[in-house]
Amino acid sequence: MTIIRNLLVAGALVGASLAGAPAFAAETLNPQTQKNLDAAMHGEAFANLKYQAYAEHARKSGHPEIAKLFDESANVEANEHFAREADALGLAKTDEANLLDAMAGEHYENTEMYVNFAKQADAVGDKKVAELFRQIAADEGDHYAAYKAAAEKLRAGK
Ligand SMILES: [Fe+2]
Ligand SMILES: [Fe+2]
Repeated sequence: MTIIRNLLVAGALVGASLAGAPAFAAETLNPQTQKNLDAAMHGEAFANLKYQAYAEHARKSGHPEIAKLFDESANVEANEHFAREADALGLAKTDEANLLDAMAGEHYENTEMYVNFAKQADAVGDKKVAELFRQIAADEGDHYAAYKAAAEKLRAGK
């Protein structure tokens, strides 16, 4: 899933850069509108990855026309809907702010979210999923460390 997520992020960035200057001033938006944009972006991002998974399934089960339909929708969810909403919200800030935001998310996933998910899965006997959560938690720790190193390098002007 990491590869798919990276593709989504890359796609969203391409969409955002093609869109040019933000058409909206995010700081002037009503807080509820900002919240709704954030919720909508979560939905679009999930739909993008879900449709890619559905497209892959359709390809493997010999239905290329269904795969094409899912691929095309997935592309719109990411590169139009998500990208335009991200633009409206002013999602991407400075590189330093973006690295700090990414660090916060990865740190939370690494030290709290996946740790708790693993504990809960263990407690109910879902051992394989518990192990999956622990493996992903470790990946998120690597992501955090890489972002942190990049932020320090940026601050040092390297
Ligand atoms: Fe959409
Ligand atoms: Fe991550």
